Amino acid sequence: MGLKTKFNLGMGVAFLVGLGLAAFMFNQVLRDGARQAALRDAGMILAQAAAVRGYTATEVAPLLREQLKTRFLPHSVPSWSAQTVWRGMQSQFSDYSYKEAALNPTNPSDRATDWEADIIEQFRRDPKLAQFASVRDTPTGAVLSLSRPLRIANQACLSCHTTAAEAPQTMVDLYGPANGFGWKLNETVGAQIASVPLAVTTRQADELLKLYIGGLVAVFAVIAILLNVMLHYIIVKPVRQISAAANDISMGNMNAPEVEARGSDEIASLTESFNRMRRSLASAMGLLGST
Ligand code: HEC
Repeated sequence: MGLKTKFNLGMGVAFLVGLGLAAFMFNQVLRDGARQAALRDAGMILAQAAAVRGYTATEVAPLLREQLKTRFLPHSVPSWSAQTVWRGMQSQFSDYSYKEAALNPTNPSDRATDWEADIIEQFRRDPKLAQFASVRDTPTGAVLSLSRPLRIANQACLSCHTTAAEAPQTMVDLYGPANGFGWKLNETVGAQIASVPLAVTTRQADELLKLYIGGLVAVFAVIAILLNVMLHYIIVKPVRQISAAANDISMGNMNAPEVEARGSDEIASLTESFNRMRRSLASAMGLLGST
């Protein structure tokens, strides 16, 4: 096996192992980044919805209190406002979703599905749990959901959610007396759940990974070509010349021209030593021949 083949094999193996490790680590970093980006998006949806809830409860509801006696205005309901504002945004974020899921909802469309109920149960079991992230596979790809508990933190909420008798009559007329009542102070009744598709950020991560691997292969190819050219002109070619000259001498051909030594590296010094040895040999042979 020639020198070049050995070098190329060694470099090839080192490159493949290095590329495998680098791609693995970069892939981890990218997946992590994709998840973080999705978590950030979901966190913004939840924070925005929480702000609308707060605004409705403190700013809007007091203004509409008198109105509720004659006509129920859902505009005074934090949950209604938050979900209505979200629907306004949804046209621009069609793969995203926001829901205020509850186990015993006032509005049946807020009823928790199986996986949402599991999340609410987790919050009910652990009152200290502030948020919860989970990934689900859906027909359109993986979806990350970030959830935060909806707890009855103040008495004002209970004016509408304790019993149908205590709730504004206009509200009961609209929503019926069966749902969304019996809630207790500090009880976790539901969860804000923001869902974000992972497909977009994962696709970006895949593109970046391809680009990164392509870049590494290009750098390796340039280095391999350069090293092969250098190997040829600096080592292989001069060594072949010395080897041919040594061959000539061994066959008794002392008249072949000297090998030309270029530069001052180890090969040049080997060439000079070889030439010197050849001259010594020639003069020793000359001495032998003259006796
Ligand atoms: C004026 C009466 C009223 C008050 C006060 C009120 N809610 Fe509600 N709440 C409702 C109505 C009506 C709905 C259904 C809204 C809809 O149609 O989306 C609702 C919906 C909800 C939902 C979504 C699940 C469901 O029941 O449909 C949650 C969670 C909720 N409320 C929690 C609270 C909390 C927490 C407070 C206190 C900050 C509060 N509510 C104050 C009337 C009220």
